[in-house]
Amino acid sequence: MPKVVALPGDGIGKEVTDAAVAVLKEVAPDVTIQELLIGGAAVDAAGVPFPGEVEAAVTTADAVLLGTVGGPRYDTLPRELRPERGLLALRKALGVYANIRPVRVVPGLEHLSPLRPEKARGVDVLIVRELLGGLYFDSNRGRSGERAHNTMSYTVPEIDRIARIAFWAAEQRRGHVTSVDKANVLEVSELWRETVTKVHEEKYRHVTLRHELVDSAAMLLVSNPTRYDVILTENLFGDILSDLAAVLPGSLGLMPSASLGDGPGLFEPIHGSAPDIAGQGVANPAAAILSVGMLLRHGLKRSGAANNVDAAVSLALRSHPTRDIGGTASTQAFADAVLQALSTTNVSA
Ligand code: NAD
Ligand code: IPM
Ligand code: MN
Repeated sequence: MPKVVALPGDGIGKEVTDAAVAVLKEVAPDVTIQELLIGGAAVDAAGVPFPGEVEAAVTTADAVLLGTVGGPRYDTLPRELRPERGLLALRKALGVYANIRPVRVVPGLEHLSPLRPEKARGVDVLIVRELLGGLYFDSNRGRSGERAHNTMSYTVPEIDRIARIAFWAAEQRRGHVTSVDKANVLEVSELWRETVTKVHEEKYRHVTLRHELVDSAAMLLVSNPTRYDVILTENLFGDILSDLAAVLPGSLGLMPSASLGDGPGLFEPIHGSAPDIAGQGVANPAAAILSVGMLLRHGLKRSGAANNVDAAVSLALRSHPTRDIGGTASTQAFADAVLQALSTTNVSA
């Protein structure tokens, strides 16, 4: 029996993960789900954001479903005790270096996008974000007096392995990779560009490769999104570009992700704990539920069930839109609509 560890975390994390777990139970009743604390909730209960017992559980699971971590209550804690550090430690413990963030405007749901329908139509971008390197993890960091520093450094093997994921993904899609960097200024981007080009020439000449600078790529991503198929980029650029890309489908609440490595995968919405709406029961759980779809597809290799979840979410977005996308449905009402759609859907698992 597959085991999934669910880590709701903080703020709206609990609300959206409850909805996602209900969907997972519906489509995969044989899966064992173990729910544990992470982030601020774990700090409150155990004094640390990523307790040892959680690490032991996730590393022996088949997949991990995460809500969100963080919130204003924890912002004044020492940096090593902050909820976000717990999330980074979780990613590191699982070795999930490849963060896959699909950005789709589902046909028929163009009206949810703030873009004109003709611009939004057909948007289907996959952001492949390097997740274990760069500024987030380099140990050359710190503060002293009036100076603070972080370091963006990458090695060839780190760039090589994430580049292979991007080219592999492009092969299954439309065959175009855009590698995004800042090679006009940064040495680390020069190495990034050289390494990506080398992987391309060695093995993936049948995929097209284009290099773009991150500043103009940000502009083009919102003004002409259909020019992109797979976007390959480093950790911080990927973080920023993916929240920007959330504008295309219409909300952060529509953006799921999968983080993959050699062991169990981690599946999580890209949004945060949304302190401004936490506790009100109005968060959009679509991103969390679509993350269950990614968990089924990539973590448990159940693509039929994954397709059913995606289709049910599309139906619910049409019939029960939440507040962030211009509707009035509560988190619970949206989740119920997904469950209802699943019980009537004809797509076979
Ligand atoms: P956020 O993503 O929490 O919220 C940004 C805006 O989007 C808010 O207005 C929020 O209400 C809205 N929003 C986000 N998700 C939504 C949803 N599912 N439905 C409806 N509206 C939604 O970003 P923030 O406010 O900058 O960060 C808040 C906290 O979350 C911080 O502590 C941050 O560190 C943390 N964070 C955690 C994660 C994670 O756990 N993966 C990701 C991002 C931010
Ligand atoms: C995300 C979040 C995290 C990140 C934070 C909370 C550490 O913003 O998953 O996008 O920057 O990776
Ligand atoms: Mn982010």
